[in-house]
Parts: sequence; structure tokens; C-alpha cells
Amino acid sequence: MKEMVMIIGAGIFQIPAIKEAQKMGYAVLVLDMNPCAPGFEIADCKEYISTKDISRAIRCAHDYGKKYHLQAVFTAGTDVAYTVASVAHAMGLPGISPDAALCATNKYLMRCALRTHDVPCPDFISAKTVEDACAKARILGYPLVIKPVDNMGARGVRQIDTEEELREQFQKSIGESGHYGDPTVILEEYMEGQEISMDTLVDEKGEVHLLTVADRHILSPPYFVEVGHSIPSLLSHETIRQAFDVMKKAIKAVGITCGAAKADIKITHEGAKIGEITARLSGGFHSQCTDPLATGMNTTKAALDMALGKSLNRDDITPRYHRVALERALLPSPGKIISIEGIDEARNIPGIFDIFLTRHVGDYVTSPTSNIGKVGHIIAYGTTRKEAEKAYGRARDIIKIQTVQQEKVMVG
Ligand SMILES: Nc1ncnc2c1ncn2[C@@H]1O[C@H](COP(=O)(O)OP(=O)(O)O)[C@@H](O)[C@H]1O
Ligand SMILES: [Mg+2]
Repeated sequence: MKEMVMIIGAGIFQIPAIKEAQKMGYAVLVLDMNPCAPGFEIADCKEYISTKDISRAIRCAHDYGKKYHLQAVFTAGTDVAYTVASVAHAMGLPGISPDAALCATNKYLMRCALRTHDVPCPDFISAKTVEDACAKARILGYPLVIKPVDNMGARGVRQIDTEEELREQFQKSIGESGHYGDPTVILEEYMEGQEISMDTLVDEKGEVHLLTVADRHILSPPYFVEVGHSIPSLLSHETIRQAFDVMKKAIKAVGITCGAAKADIKITHEGAKIGEITARLSGGFHSQCTDPLATGMNTTKAALDMALGKSLNRDDITPRYHRVALERALLPSPGKIISIEGIDEARNIPGIFDIFLTRHVGDYVTSPTSNIGKVGHIIAYGTTRKEAEKAYGRARDIIKIQTVQQEKVMVG
């Protein structure tokens, strides 16, 4: 029987994992309910199952277990660690406990675990009704941030300065919750400071390895839209060391005993604080593109080895070079896209790794209020920051995305 790896999700951020598992000699089964998921085209086997449907995923694993030796369950770049851990647990495969995975997915449980273990993070409360939220917000104080407990990509996340804004936003945020349990929102203290994304790996002995740190560029208040990220971070080694210490405490607090762990960390005037921690490699083209471009590391293979119960091969996480890699979002003016030009030309610019388009001619673009709805992403790199920025700038100037809003034509 052939050995198989099950990957939860067949989207763009799971593609490197699918390819890597195949390169390692495994047949790959992917689960995704989106019939157009690009991973379906390359996977060996596919099933149209929601990435959050744990019982169907377990049944599916049992079914495939009759024809294949299922060796691991894995994901990257999407918040389905609870599904991954639950299937692995049910099949007796390596992985973190489902409780820990839920803790690294549900933001309320996450905050409770962090607080219990004295890990620096903002004060918070949870609420299921608007009246409860308003009453608790009066005690917590403004400004605060509201978010659904179990979504991702900053969907339903917003800075709130007044009770009026809270009342206006509450339904929108709670409407984005409930993927893994009851719809609930969390309100937390607003943290001011540079945001970083930190990818780490816990090896088979429990040792935590720092992989990469990206500076995240967040715009569009009161929403949080990541318009890009840059590797390496411009923060000092000392600041990164302190953030890594906080990360290690957070990993322990939520119970990530092995495999990938990724956190959004805010560098506040009181030091590093955890924004969120997840039990997977980062998404947003970070672990998929900018990470390997900047360092030459194969963190996807290293994380897959952990999911397979193997020991870490340190070569996979040893930087082979120190380059600069950037991801920048394409955000044209709102309206209907009537033309997209210059993509092929921009792809040929030295220092442009690739350009990913997520919207096409005929699609509508709105002002983003989360990380969903960006039109595309430019991935650039160079031996210096200047070189990478220059390549990005040239690509940005060549790409013309024309949108039309009623009668007005916009070029951006
Ligand atoms: N307490 C907070 N203070 C300041 N910014 C926050 C806070 N919570 C979230 N954010 C911003 O919102 C973004 C999304 O929130 P996050 O908790 O990471 O949820 P998601 O799972 O949707 O990524 C973060 O990347 C950060 O920029
Ligand atoms: Mg986040």
C-alpha cells in the first residue's frame, strides 16, 4: 500500500505542502469544499469536504486508510489546526492534542490560556450578545478591538472607539464567528506598535526553533488590512529575542508540543505581546514564498517531517542565504475591473519572483476591510532591501488595473 499524507485545504497556501509531500514520495489527499481550489489539480486524491467538518474528515481518513497507509495530517497557511489535530488523533497519527489545537484556533480559549500562564497579551472579554459586549466594554475601556473568536484574515476585526461603534459593528463581527462552536466575539485592549509575524517550529524533543520574522504592514483604520510584509524584520536583534521569548511562553501555554507554531506579535511600549498564536506555518505568501526566497530554508518540509513523527533535519531550517523578500498587495480603486495589464511584463523584471492575481476582469473590487478582497500580490526579492524595493516599484508601475465606478474610470 502506498503511503499517504492528508492535507486539509487545497488553496494557494497549501500548494507548497502538497508538492513537498509528493516530492517526499507520498500520495497526497486534499480536502476542500471549494471545487475550484487550485490544489485539486495537483493532488493525487481529492474530496469536497469543508476544512472545518471534523467528523467527515475523520470518516474520509478511515476510508482512505483501507487503500493507503495514512502517515500524517497536515495544513499550512489556514486556521484548521483543530481539524488536523482531531483527524490525526482519531487515526493514531502524530500531532498536537485536539485541545491544544482548539486553544490555538479559538481566540477566547487562546487568551485564557495565555493569561493563565502569564504570557504578555492584551486584557480581553468575550460576549455573545451586544448588550453583554457593551456592559463589559465599559469596564474594559476604549479603544478596543472586536473580533470573531474563530475566523482568520482579519475578517470581522475592527478598532472600536465608542459604544456607538461597538453597537454598529457587533453583528458584523459575530456573524463571522461560529466555525468551530458557538458564535462569539472577543473584545480586547487595543495594542499600539509594530506588528510582526513569527514562524517557529517545535521539534520532536520539544525544542523551539525560530524560523523567520516578517514586519507586517497594516493599513486602513479602523480595519486591519495587511498591505504587505517584509523579511527580514527591521527590528533589532534584542527586540526579536524578547519577542521570541514571549513566543516560546505562548507555545507552552496553548500546548503546542510539536510542529509549526506561528504568531502575530505586537511590539508595544510595554514589550512584545501576543496578538494571536496558531499551530501551523504562516499564510499570506510568507512561509510559501518570501520565507524560502529570503533564506533558502525549506520550512514546509521541516514542518511536514514533524507531522510525520520524524526527527527534524536541521539543514531544512538553516538559512542558506540572507536576502530581502517582500510581498505587496495590489489594491486598485473600488469598482468593476475592466482591464488588467502589464502582469507578464512585470513578471519578467529581475527580482520579481511572481505575481498572484486573486481577482480578474469583470470582478468587483471594494475598499478592503480585511485581508480578503485584495486583487493580487507582488512578490519581490533582492540581495539588499533597496534592490527588492526597486524591483517591486518597477512591477507596481507597470501593472495597470483599470476599474470603473458608475461612469468614472479609475486607473491604479
Ligand atoms: N488587540 C489588538 N490591538 C491592535 N491590533 C489588533 C488587536 N487584535 C487584532 N489586531 C489587528 O487585527 C489583525 C487581525 O487580528 P488577529 O487576531 O490576528 O485575527 P485573524 O485571525 O483574523 O488574523 C491583526 O493582524 C492586528 O493587525
Ligand atoms: Mg492574525
